[in-house]
Amino acid sequence: MTQPPELKRIAVMTSGGDAPGMNAGIRAVVRWALAHQVEVLGIQRGYYGLVRGELAPLGARDVGGRIQEGGTFLRTARLPEFKQRDVQQQAVDVLTEHGVGGLVVIGGDGSLSGALALHSLGVRVAGVPATIDNDMCGTDLAIGVDTALNTILEAIDRLRDTASSHGRIHVIETMGRHCGYLAMMAGVTGGAEIMHIPEVPLSLAEMLATVEQAWARGKAHVIMTVAEGAEHDVQTIASYMEREHRGYECRVSILGHIQRGGRPTHFDRLLATRLGVHAVQCLLDGQSGRMVALQGAKITAVPLPSVIGCTRAAPVDEHALLRTLAQ
Ligand code: ADP
Ligand code: F6P
Repeated sequence: MTQPPELKRIAVMTSGGDAPGMNAGIRAVVRWALAHQVEVLGIQRGYYGLVRGELAPLGARDVGGRIQEGGTFLRTARLPEFKQRDVQQQAVDVLTEHGVGGLVVIGGDGSLSGALALHSLGVRVAGVPATIDNDMCGTDLAIGVDTALNTILEAIDRLRDTASSHGRIHVIETMGRHCGYLAMMAGVTGGAEIMHIPEVPLSLAEMLATVEQAWARGKAHVIMTVAEGAEHDVQTIASYMEREHRGYECRVSILGHIQRGGRPTHFDRLLATRLGVHAVQCLLDGQSGRMVALQGAKITAVPLPSVIGCTRAAPVDEHALLRTLAQ
């Protein structure tokens, strides 16, 4: 078997929407590479910084004290023009000028589409899934999901206190443009009566019926989680409930970017560490065009073309079952 060309220097970037745990991922990439005598350059602001040549060496000390920080110290950005071949070629030229033999891209579906484009232009790349939405195929969980869920859960717990005191309906919007994972899972563990997600059709009339049944059973509050990409938005739901269900007040909370920040949980730090190590290992082994992934209890790698553009759905088969528990 022929040996892959020896790797002397790699680069790492974070791109797209940030996710808690990205820093832990960068740290793992840097330290695993250095442990294998491979230098690392950090790229500032994703593809935007890459095409502008914003690369600088990262040493073991540069990633010290970062594992517990949310956000990404390499910063992130969006560069829509990166879909163009000429802009991708500029990135290849920058990487070549800097003697970079391998690239780790930490980000969501869009960022890993860019990584796949660079792979097709001959760059040795590894993708690391990081997005709080958990909408990426091929991995059970992406970096940031667990932290975001815990943030949402804390908000639900707080909101339930005041909801019970006043006997109100609280409608809580979570992130998730195409995937209802956050709204569904936090709804389950937060004891929500209704979870409205893009994957499961639910009419306003059905929601109202559920609310009325909950009051009839003596519930002191009703909690609804609503994914931002669900059919009915939180304001529409709240107005409908107040109009159709006279006498009960409704309050809306849009959690927004609170969900994207904060100290990564133990789970996210560990996941990011394991995925970061595996990404570098793929490059060291001469593999390219793969996304490292968590499947069951194992860290593995899957071909990027098999996961790009494929939106992972929340586990809808469990939706009805889990709703039943909120009786
Ligand atoms: P995320 O990685 O969180 O899904 P985006 O969808 O905003 O975030 O993508 C981040 C960046 O990845 C974009 O600004 C662009 O630079 C690059 N990108 C997105 N889609 C593609 C694509 N189809 N081809 C090449 N690059 C892409
Ligand atoms: O992809 C993650 C996500 O948090 C989505 O749920 C949300 O719609 C989007 O990013 C918002 O991103 P930004 O405000 O950075 O454009």
